[in-house]
Amino acid sequence: MSLEIPWTEKYRPHSFEDIVSQNVAINSLKEFIKNPNMPHMIFTGPAGTGKTSTALIIAENFLNNEDLSVNLLEVNASDTVRIDFVRNVLKNFVNQNLIKENSLKFVILDEADNIPGQVQQALRRIIEKASLNIKFILLCNYINRIIDPIISRCAVFRFVGLPKEKIIERLKHITKNEKLKIPADKAEKFFELLFFISGGDLRKAINTLQMSVSLELLENLELNEILRISGFMDEKTLEDLTMALKNKDFGKSREIIDSMETLDSRNFIRQLTEALPRVNVEPNKIPTLRAYIGEIDYRISQGASEKIQVSALLAKIIEKMGI
Ligand SMILES: Nc1ncnc2c1ncn2[C@@H]1O[C@H](COP(=O)(O)OP(=O)(O)O)[C@@H](O)[C@H]1O
Ligand SMILES: [Mg+2]
Repeated sequence: MSLEIPWTEKYRPHSFEDIVSQNVAINSLKEFIKNPNMPHMIFTGPAGTGKTSTALIIAENFLNNEDLSVNLLEVNASDTVRIDFVRNVLKNFVNQNLIKENSLKFVILDEADNIPGQVQQALRRIIEKASLNIKFILLCNYINRIIDPIISRCAVFRFVGLPKEKIIERLKHITKNEKLKIPADKAEKFFELLFFISGGDLRKAINTLQMSVSLELLENLELNEILRISGFMDEKTLEDLTMALKNKDFGKSREIIDSMETLDSRNFIRQLTEALPRVNVEPNKIPTLRAYIGEIDYRISQGASEKIQVSALLAKIIEKMGI
């Protein structure tokens, strides 16, 4: 067992065959890249589904190792792509002459949907002017945050959240390879839990597995501890909360949230949503409640106070309950 390198890197796929689950995207990509005159690309989809890995596989497919260091520019847009950066680094890279003729150059822009609109306009001009042997691969979670003139210059490939069995399969593969000892009677429950925590994000699933190992939580398989350190309610807290809601006890439900040291509202909302059927919400009220949950989620993403929004949600759930 090795803990020195992150397992997400150690188990990063290096061929299309190793990419789990993304059949639609991968099958069309395999055809697509047979033509060196292919247009630029956008990979869109949730975190931890293989976008960066696939982009690197494509670059590796066209470039050998030594060329990779000069002919591949990989940048994370969320911290580096300010207007100056786009102007300078990107322009330089794009304008540098190729060492070998007929070779391709790749620009992988991670988190492209975080690039401000104005900077996207600058980027668009660079893409327009770039010569044919330069291929941009833009990675994003939300394609609707990318400006149309860029989208229309790219082929779009959609990545989907990984299903439970694929995530568990991959985790089992790592478990075997790292010779981890997981108590047999609890193993299935452990993998189910890792999937639940991951929400379909394989990176998160692998990181949680590695974290559980490094914190020595595997021997006794302290599932509640794993839930807590991942920012979820443990079973007891969730139980108490559903009880309080069932009793329409808003005060108590507030108390429970206040007692949680690290409230991760996204995780909290996901756990609560899954528990709704157990809280006696009238079935015909569930759709309105779900719409409301979406709204709360949005408000939090826009910077609203997590505690206030979560309280509002609890009040709403109690309101929607039968007598
Ligand atoms: N579809 C997948 N197949 C195999 N491994 C994956 C897949 N998606 C994610 N992973 C694992 O998670 C890590 C992060 O994946 P990455 O390609 O960076 O995801 P994304 O760019 O979509 O956030 C990879 O190194 C790999 O270990
Ligand atoms: Mg990525």
